[in-house]
Amino acid sequence: MQIPARGRDKAEILSDLQAFHDSDIAWKTGRIWSMMYSVDEEHKTLVEEAYRSFLTENYISPFTFASLQRMEQEVIAMSKNLLNGPESVCGTMTSGGTESIFLCVYTYREWARKNRPQVQHPELVMSSTTHPAFEKAAHILNIKIRRAKVDENQAAQPAEMAKLVNKNTILIVASAPSYPHGILDPVQEIAVLAQKHQLPLHVDACVGGFMLPWVEKLGYSMPAWDFRVPGVTSMSADAHKFGYGAKGASVLLFSKMDYLRHQFFVSTEWAGGVYASSTLMGSRSGGPIAAAWTAMQHLGQNRYLDLAREIMEGVDRLKMGLEGIPEVQIIGHPAMNILAYCTHRNKPDIFVVADLLIEKGWVLDRQHLPNSIHLTVMRHNLPVIGQYLSDLKEAIATAKANPNLVAQGEAAMYGILSRLPMRGMVEKNVRKIFEDLYTAKTGTAEGTEAAESPGTMPNTPAWMGMLNRILRWKERWF
Ligand SMILES: Cc1ncc(COP(=O)(O)O)c(C=O)c1O
Repeated sequence: MQIPARGRDKAEILSDLQAFHDSDIAWKTGRIWSMMYSVDEEHKTLVEEAYRSFLTENYISPFTFASLQRMEQEVIAMSKNLLNGPESVCGTMTSGGTESIFLCVYTYREWARKNRPQVQHPELVMSSTTHPAFEKAAHILNIKIRRAKVDENQAAQPAEMAKLVNKNTILIVASAPSYPHGILDPVQEIAVLAQKHQLPLHVDACVGGFMLPWVEKLGYSMPAWDFRVPGVTSMSADAHKFGYGAKGASVLLFSKMDYLRHQFFVSTEWAGGVYASSTLMGSRSGGPIAAAWTAMQHLGQNRYLDLAREIMEGVDRLKMGLEGIPEVQIIGHPAMNILAYCTHRNKPDIFVVADLLIEKGWVLDRQHLPNSIHLTVMRHNLPVIGQYLSDLKEAIATAKANPNLVAQGEAAMYGILSRLPMRGMVEKNVRKIFEDLYTAKTGTAEGTEAAESPGTMPNTPAWMGMLNRILRWKERWF
């Protein structure tokens, strides 16, 4: 494919875009249980307008467009107040949770270089449920990850984390809440550990930062988890999730400038002049900043609270429905509108149940450790909760009546993937799928159907090839 020799007609292109949309997952039907954070059409239109009005402005530097710097700092101030930050809290807006987390790890590495000379090879202590963005950051920044076991409720265990702290530790991480099961880590106890060793503590509230405060205000009880806890030195919260801004907006807050200053980068040797940046990106659109600012200004505390109330009523309904199905077990004690469920002793097999639900048109994340199905409950899911529960009951009955389904369909593959002792083998095969996906192709991108959901892999020929390779490998060794 080449850039067309002559530009194409605008209407024709827009119609192509519409067709692309039409071939995607119809997420507004509420049949997808992750990834999409929405309010309603009116809010979407406003956010689009805000985004569009700053789409072309380049926020490569905070010095060119005073408007964007102002909006960034106002979003930081609103977030800091929401998360109960003291006056000294300062921060930047980034392109998303992954960039916030990358910068958090980078900043503490630089801070440790200056303040902890005993550190030879930096390490960070987190839990098995902490988001992989930390692992990615650590991989890029050459930092060792120490992963502590969680308890049977999937909550971080401070005592297990304590065993992993040593002279090379530069950072401890807690989640508020974790993505897989929506569990709030015991931030207060982890903060005691951090303070004992005079270590920074980051609370990853990427998914919870703009939701948990409202859930707490609604009266759902939870221990303190934000800057109220002495010892919390930074937090990440994504405006593009439950802040209801546009994609490309997260907030990274540090308790004081003594940390944040290590995030800034300055080059004085470049022919182009002095180059300085406060975050990872170079050129970036002002759109996400304007959209996040607009979402907060327009929704106001009253609407955020109403939205949270509406969603949590749905969550309560969903939980009650799940608890009424004898085979089903909700994992741990979810703190907000994210939860996961499994089946008791995996009977019937949860991945068979997932296959049957997918057949009925649901889009699901299958998880392992333990094998489970993830649900992030969003506003667009509310009208279909009853349908979901009745389809789930039917799927469970079918799975129980057909035990042979365990060895069929994707259940077989996900089952093997979750049990394979050699994770290196799994990594190698997933890497191969990416290679296939990104190998130069001629013509249109056939065989590259959309991924089902963020935690699962696409149903591509490569994916099926992987299943075959794993099955062959399994036969050889067992
Ligand atoms: C707890 C948590 N941290 C970090 C991230 C990464 O955020 P992003 O996908 O915006 O990079 C997510 C995403 O879901 C998350 O749930």
